Amino acid sequence: MQPTEDILVLKKINKAFPGVKALTDMDFSLRRGEVHALVGENGAGKSTMMKILSGAYKKDSGTIFFEGKEVDITGPKFSEELGIAIIYQELNLIHRVSVAENVFLGRPPRRAGVIQWGRMYRDAKALFDSFDIKMDVYEDVRRLSIAQQQIVEIIKAVSINAKVVIMDEPTSSLTENETQILFRIIRSLKEKGISVIFITHRLDEIFAICDRMTVLRDGCYIGTRDVKDVTKSEMIAMMIGRELKQQFPERSAEIGDECLRVEHMSDGGRHVKDVSFSVRRGEVLGFAGLVGAGRTETMRLIFGADHKAQGKIFIDGREVSIASPRQAVAHRIGFVTENRKEEGLFLSLPVRNNIVAVAIDKIKSFHILNFGKEKEISDKYVRDLQIATPSINQRVVFLSGGNQQKVVLAKWLLSDSQVMILDEPTRGIDVGAKREIYEIINQLAAQGKAIIVVSSEMEEIMGISDRILVMHEGEISGEVKKEDFSQSTITEYAVGGA
Ligand SMILES: Nc1ncnc2c1ncn2[C@@H]1O[C@H](COP(=O)(O)OP(=O)(O)OP(=O)(O)O)[C@@H](O)[C@H]1O
Ligand SMILES: [Mg+2]
Repeated sequence: MQPTEDILVLKKINKAFPGVKALTDMDFSLRRGEVHALVGENGAGKSTMMKILSGAYKKDSGTIFFEGKEVDITGPKFSEELGIAIIYQELNLIHRVSVAENVFLGRPPRRAGVIQWGRMYRDAKALFDSFDIKMDVYEDVRRLSIAQQQIVEIIKAVSINAKVVIMDEPTSSLTENETQILFRIIRSLKEKGISVIFITHRLDEIFAICDRMTVLRDGCYIGTRDVKDVTKSEMIAMMIGRELKQQFPERSAEIGDECLRVEHMSDGGRHVKDVSFSVRRGEVLGFAGLVGAGRTETMRLIFGADHKAQGKIFIDGREVSIASPRQAVAHRIGFVTENRKEEGLFLSLPVRNNIVAVAIDKIKSFHILNFGKEKEISDKYVRDLQIATPSINQRVVFLSGGNQQKVVLAKWLLSDSQVMILDEPTRGIDVGAKREIYEIINQLAAQGKAIIVVSSEMEEIMGISDRILVMHEGEISGEVKKEDFSQSTITEYAVGGA
């Protein structure tokens, strides 16, 4: 049976921040028991609209109806009482506290005012069990992977008996397997008549799990469609307002001499066992593999972010010693990390300071910071990467998720590295901007830089690499040349077969 009754209706919602009109007369309606995708470019206003529903932001004007009645969502508590649960784009768990305590945060089971710890752990375990998820409910959430933390967030949301569950890019850090677990959870929510608002930049997921989709562009409502009636290119055209001819630009960079070589590198066998490879100037070398295969850890070792137990690094044939990121930067190695919040950005500083953070020397003249130059350079990158921000003086914390990622990229693009390591460079980035990033990767290669790209998106890694190395359990399990690229070959190596 198709769900038809609207549980939630938004009419003409407006929201402005200083210098930014985030939402303009936005309309939206959600049916009971449907999975509704909310899509649009970075900075389109998706998270803002959801934060209005969760009570984190107050709307400037407009009306919200919940179960047919007009409501004024005055704060998070009110939203929760209505039955709206949200999983934010940025994880919100309390560290140094167990999984179970996080699930029942602020509302642990009590009897006569006393917290019933035993029951809390049992209830938490039962919740995970009911979704067939293995989870140690006593574990400190800090020790969980990002993906596991995400699952805890989801279970926590489900546990408040929500009628509407909002998921803001829930899959961006999940493995294929974990995504399947999430989809299972979503299907069972649907069966219980619970509605899900699902924000994603991965269009395939919309086809896999969503019933309808609503598109936003520049804070405005563009349209709502039944997913079964749209094609991927129609979807993209709605999002970016034009056709996207080709997702991956042509590559023509000439491949030159070896730039970076790594020999027998390991971290003592914890994540990286015995990795050797080389990458040449002008080459884009892809690293494929399942999440957890040791790709990020390998890159961290090269960059000096973690301690190498063994291994040598050569640049232009000369052995170099890299024991810290500072030394890596001195050898002109750049690293765009996958975890922008922890490693990539100074959130409380303006865009301009973040962009020039690594290349600070470039904008000094006689040791004096040249603000004019800083402005000129930051303006250029904001333009080139289409970073949606009212100005370069905006603090990064106020940018949308995808635009924060673009700032990280800009910072390293400016750094004049000869080796660029990009770890999941397009995570959370919209389709239009992805293409811009691929163009930039091509330009860097054409300038003779050696590029390493770690990506879990199969299509992407095949679309942009000249050669692919596949990792499995800390080792390189296969090398695939461009003419032999195929999803099945790569997958086989990734699971340790072949
Ligand atoms: N607290 C804030 N202060 C100032 N500006 C903000 C704030 N929150 C959001 N914005 C701005 O509002 C606009 C919409 O942002 P929002 O986070 O809703 O985008 P989004 O569609 O979720 O994008 P993404 O796909 O990158 O996550 C952006 O221009 C953003 O910079
Ligand atoms: Mg967002």
